Amino acid sequence: MWSVLAVMAAALAAPVAAQIGGRPTRPQVTRPGGPVWQVIRKNCISCHGIDDYAFFALDRAGWQTLLETKHKTGGAVLSDLDRNTLLDWLTAKFGPDTKPFPRTYVPPEITTFFSDPEAKRLLDRACTSCHMLDRVDNARYPEERWRVTLVDMRERGAKLTDEELERLVEWLGRVRGTNQDK
Ligand code: HEC
Ligand code: HEC
Repeated sequence: MWSVLAVMAAALAAPVAAQIGGRPTRPQVTRPGGPVWQVIRKNCISCHGIDDYAFFALDRAGWQTLLETKHKTGGAVLSDLDRNTLLDWLTAKFGPDTKPFPRTYVPPEITTFFSDPEAKRLLDRACTSCHMLDRVDNARYPEERWRVTLVDMRERGAKLTDEELERLVEWLGRVRGTNQDK
């Protein structure tokens, strides 16, 4: 019963949980105004948001290369005017002199551990919107590899607090680890 309440409380707290102990775990980029937003609205936000831009601090050529390499298939085909407007803004706001948002994840210490039903409830809530759980069931990784995968899933949009992520890493390492056949 308590664990159910804890999971519900965690779910309710989700919007606040982007900041744990005052430390933001995801960047938040303020929407630009005017023509820049027109370019982004028209060409970029159909697939993903603008927050990830803050992971980078690049000069103009660097931004151009990044956008090309990240969008080899599909992605936006921009007019020269639109591309210049976008690159001007990206370079001014996320240029080489700025500090990129750290991608590194600092795992919190955990003191309580998931039971199987608790872990499965979290998987159902946080992991089923994009793919089925067979990806999880079929994988056997050591803990460190699960951590990398979960941080990656969160960067893609999975809603997990640091605490939930770390408890899930511990559980996956235990029951979907490499040293047993469960
Ligand atoms: C058709 C869908 C699509 C469109 C449209 C699109 N993107 Fe992307 N974008 C992606 C995908 C998918 C990735 C992840 C690729 C990868 O990780 O290799 C990505 C990655 C990125 C990244 C790197 C993010 C990160 O965290 O590593 C940036 C920056 C980016 N896009 C900016 C833009 C901008 C600016 C536009 C508009 C000019 C745009 N994208 C339009 C699909 C799209
Ligand atoms: C926002 C969408 C999204 C959510 C939510 C999501 N995933 Fe994923 N997941 C992906 C995509 C996209 C891939 C394929 C990535 C690739 O092949 O590079 C993937 C692949 C995987 C893989 C196989 C790749 C690997 O590293 O082994 C595992 C395991 C996985 N996800 C686990 C999870 C777990 C656990 C959760 C919940 C905490 C989760 N995912 C939530 C999008 C998502």
